[in-house]
Amino acid sequence: MQQRPRRLRTTAAMRAMVGETSLEPRQLILPMFVAEGLREPRQISSMPGVVQHTLDTLRKAAVEAADAGLAGVMLFGVPEHKDARGSGAIDPDGILTNAIRAVREEVGDECLVMSDVCLDEFTDHGHCGVLTASGAVDNDATIEIYAQMAVLHAEAGVHAVGPSGMMDGQVGAIREALDASGASDVVILAYSVKYASAFYGPFREAVASTLKGNRRTYQQDPANIREALREVALDVEQGADIVMVKPALGYLDVVRAIREAVDLPVAAYNVSGEYAMIEAAAANGWINRDTAINETLTGIRRAGADVILSYWALDWATRLRAQMR
Ligand code: PBG
Repeated sequence: MQQRPRRLRTTAAMRAMVGETSLEPRQLILPMFVAEGLREPRQISSMPGVVQHTLDTLRKAAVEAADAGLAGVMLFGVPEHKDARGSGAIDPDGILTNAIRAVREEVGDECLVMSDVCLDEFTDHGHCGVLTASGAVDNDATIEIYAQMAVLHAEAGVHAVGPSGMMDGQVGAIREALDASGASDVVILAYSVKYASAFYGPFREAVASTLKGNRRTYQQDPANIREALREVALDVEQGADIVMVKPALGYLDVVRAIREAVDLPVAAYNVSGEYAMIEAAAANGWINRDTAINETLTGIRRAGADVILSYWALDWATRLRAQMR
């Protein structure tokens, strides 16, 4: 026998040398939730280990993320009061704006402060936009509100905004508003390809969403990949700086296709349901948690993602550091 691939797997050093895919803290973004009016952090039951933060604990967690060398944090705000127009989203003293200010004050430029630009956390009907009289999501009215949100976030010190509502023209509207307000350096991390997915289930608890029904008139059909490439092309044209695919695990072919189609950095969102599945299986002793997490994050990188949003980001980076000691 002349060919023995196993020779390259004999020791840990050998395997490390020929490893094709690397994962580093600088490639990871930690999504975090902050809720208005909380006194103590509140556990999210469907996401063991993830909490809704108070402004105070959010500050501390952001410092830990920066110390661990993460790329950044993605902030989601949960307001005390929701209404039909999601007005908390454009309140200069609203929870998300205050959180951005607090975190930026804490971390400066040590790590990136990013924010969700979407209305679903703020509306009482739970949709990502405002509704028309007949109850449809009003695309063009919504993107005007997104643009205002983005400007507010920029004034609060955000490094990058993440429009996640899948409205047509959202990236262009936000870019134009940011530039007009003097925030031309603020990056747009576009949720370009976002599927209507059951794997967002636990997130709905995390942001206390009241959504009834589904988002299939604006999020994409899981069956489609050509449509994903179209969405990406439109976002690139409108000025996206980074394009994202979401969820990650069921869509690794989409990540790969987009990696090959564009020159921009590509991100993937390892979403709440993907987190919950592994945590639940591990809690039952059915799989090895840490190994499953490594495998998941490595797989997303191998598919072509430059950046990964993951609720495990800090946990993973902290474990890496302990191993290096
Ligand atoms: C919308 C938004 C959602 C997620 C991120 N941004 C929910 C949705 O579109 O239904 C889901 C993230 C996750 O499941 O981890 N603001």
